[in-house]
Amino acid sequence: MGLLSQNFLPKCLLFLFLPYFLTRCVSSGQQPCLYSERSALLQLKESFILNRSASSYSKADTWKLEGWVGGDCCSWDGIECDNNTGHVIGLDLSSSFLYGSFDSNSSLFQLQHLTNLNLFDNDFNGSEIPSAIGNLSKLSQLDLSFSAFSGQIPYEVLHLFKLVMLDLSYNNNLSGEIPESIENLKSLSHLDVSYSSFSGKIPNSLANLTQLTYLSLAGNGFTPSTLPWLDRLTKLAVLNVDSTNSRGDVLSSLKNLTRLAVLRLFRNQFSSPIPSWLGNLTHLTNLDLGLNQFWGLLPESIFTLIKLEFLGLEENLLNGTYKLESFLNLKNLRELQLSDNRFSLVTTTVMNATVPKFTILTLASCNLLEFPNFLSGQDELAYLNLSRNKIHGFIPKWIWDLSPQTLEVLYLSENFLTGFQQPAVVPPWTTLRVLDLRSNKLRGSLPIPPASIYQYFVSNNLLKGEISSMICNLPYISVLDISNNSFSWHAATMFGQSEQVAFTTKTPKQQLSWPYSSNM
Ligand SMILES: *[C@@H]1O[C@H](CO)[C@@H](O)[C@H](O)[C@H]1NC(C)=O
Ligand SMILES: *[C@@H]1O[C@H](CO)[C@@H](O)[C@H](O)[C@H]1NC(C)=O
Ligand SMILES: *[C@@H]1O[C@H](CO)[C@@H](O)[C@H](O)[C@H]1NC(C)=O
Ligand SMILES: *[C@@H]1O[C@H](CO)[C@@H](O)[C@H](O)[C@H]1NC(C)=O
Ligand SMILES: *[C@@H]1O[C@H](CO)[C@@H](O)[C@H](O)[C@H]1NC(C)=O
Ligand SMILES: *[C@@H]1O[C@H](CO)[C@@H](O)[C@H](O)[C@H]1NC(C)=O
Ligand SMILES: *[C@@H]1O[C@H](CO)[C@@H](O)[C@H](O)[C@H]1NC(C)=O
Ligand SMILES: *[C@@H]1O[C@H](CO)[C@@H](O)[C@H](O)[C@H]1NC(C)=O
Ligand SMILES: *[C@@H]1O[C@H](CO)[C@@H](O)[C@H](O)[C@H]1NC(C)=O
Ligand SMILES: *[C@@H]1O[C@H](CO)[C@@H](O)[C@H](O)[C@H]1NC(C)=O
Ligand SMILES: *[C@@H]1O[C@H](CO)[C@@H](O)[C@H](O)[C@H]1NC(C)=O
Ligand SMILES: *[C@@H]1O[C@H](CO)[C@@H](O)[C@H](O)[C@H]1NC(C)=O
Repeated sequence: MGLLSQNFLPKCLLFLFLPYFLTRCVSSGQQPCLYSERSALLQLKESFILNRSASSYSKADTWKLEGWVGGDCCSWDGIECDNNTGHVIGLDLSSSFLYGSFDSNSSLFQLQHLTNLNLFDNDFNGSEIPSAIGNLSKLSQLDLSFSAFSGQIPYEVLHLFKLVMLDLSYNNNLSGEIPESIENLKSLSHLDVSYSSFSGKIPNSLANLTQLTYLSLAGNGFTPSTLPWLDRLTKLAVLNVDSTNSRGDVLSSLKNLTRLAVLRLFRNQFSSPIPSWLGNLTHLTNLDLGLNQFWGLLPESIFTLIKLEFLGLEENLLNGTYKLESFLNLKNLRELQLSDNRFSLVTTTVMNATVPKFTILTLASCNLLEFPNFLSGQDELAYLNLSRNKIHGFIPKWIWDLSPQTLEVLYLSENFLTGFQQPAVVPPWTTLRVLDLRSNKLRGSLPIPPASIYQYFVSNNLLKGEISSMICNLPYISVLDISNNSFSWHAATMFGQSEQVAFTTKTPKQQLSWPYSSNM
């Protein structure tokens, strides 16, 4: 024992025989974990089933007594200890395949020194959030998202006064109202309750959480609310109220929120013109005003928001005439959604090299008279919708160069297209799943889609002749609509039907949901 000083003994006695602990205790001054907390963690692990395949890794795999470092729970994956006291202060069990119910008697609540608890992405099988969580009074970060919790937010959570971050998102069964007393959590800077089943009014008391930099209420079944109190949350960098049944003139409350980088108002009943001062929110990277009732002219200032990566304006009542080029000057744009307003877009010849590379572009019902020529240089598009425009004549030959490795959905329906300028025997797209050429003026024989296709619509055209047997060899096709054309009798009998051919064969392998909306 001569090696160790008397002072040192009490702290490290338990671990005396393991060289690792000597290293921890002597050289770094760090304390190994407490025996009682280690037992609590082992008990916690025992209380769940690790539901996973043999090859997948759970952080709890390292939680065991055997091995070189086994005894010191501070060295286990997902555990952080206070270096001075050895208390467990951080527990990160995110994506750890935990399955089973989670109750107030869980040994987790013995870890009274926790400041950071992350249980994101597990399956607590519809458990209610245990009220004993209120005992973890030192918590500053609490992430319970995507973990199959249900029931109401327990009163005890609203007494965790030190919380800086609270994430309850993506529990499709957390329900009830967000209580007004949420305002107790004065230190909150990050609050996320999105995509759960909350109802009732959005509490006005959120106005008192003036430290918030991140607020997401999206995707809950709230009753109609107006959000005038947002004007007090001047530190917000991220505001997401997508699909919250909100209404009114929200924009006028956002004037002083000059730090906003993400502003998502998608799918609500907001109604007002878009004010020109919106151009003052120069940090915006993600602006989604889609599916609302914004009306009037777009202010020129919107074209100065050069940091924008996502701009969604679709399905509003905006009017006027704009150069498509103005949008293309936003060099960081990757997704642009302008469909279904009351405005017209005029195309000009722009240099390929200066145009951003889009992944999603929706320009349906924009009164376009021709294919925008900048598309010829786009090689990263996944989704393009040019439906319901006034495009006449041939589909240009460069269409075959349009993102052959990435394009998944191409909508050209309801135009005045007569055919392909340069027909291809086998289209080059390797990933195309949906092709819509409906309601045009296509002549000649049935264009054959690429082998990757799931859904092919070409009804209401002037196609004729025999239908190539290649159509029958498409391996993934699940929806084929070639009705209202003039195919020969022979072609029609191929499908055992009359000239009207519209049918479904196999079940689609994947649910198609487009357009993808960018998440933050
Ligand atoms: C276990 O995991 C598999 C694959 O992730 C999942 O399909 C199954 O539903 C899970 N079982 C339970 C009981 O959660
Ligand atoms: C404890 O010490 C380690 C190593 O020196 C350091 O990386 C870690 O941040 C410290 N933890 C705390 C909570 O101070
Ligand atoms: C999960 O919940 C179901 C339904 O309440 C129950 O039958 C099952 O036993 C629970 N599984 C576990 C591991 O608790
Ligand atoms: C916790 O309580 C539940 C019933 O509420 C019981 O089924 C479970 O076994 C208890 N767990 C522990 C670790 O005591
Ligand atoms: C949500 O609740 C419903 C009905 O109680 C149940 O059928 C469903 O499985 C639950 N979902 C989850 C993720 O627990
Ligand atoms: C919570 O704290 C109270 C009072 O400090 C204590 O009586 C109770 O046992 C604690 N509950 C748990 C689950 O630790
Ligand atoms: C904010 O807090 C103050 C003081 O506690 C209170 O008077 C006010 O009603 C609160 N505001 C809202 C909108 O709840
Ligand atoms: C915005 O800030 C200015 C001064 O900083 C203040 O006078 C004005 O009342 C604020 N507007 C709103 C809507 O809060
Ligand atoms: C927007 O910025 C301009 C120029 O900096 C300034 O004059 C104007 O007052 C600002 N508008 C608002 C509403 O802050
Ligand atoms: C745009 O719509 C507003 C009313 O919503 C109307 O007053 C205005 O004349 C329209 N402007 C154009 C250019 O169509
Ligand atoms: C393309 O736009 C048209 C017109 O708005 C719409 O009806 C159609 O659903 C869109 N296609 C897809 C795949 O979103
Ligand atoms: C755009 O680039 C493509 C491929 O680099 C080229 O074939 C096409 O001619 C260019 N179009 C214009 C308008 O410059």
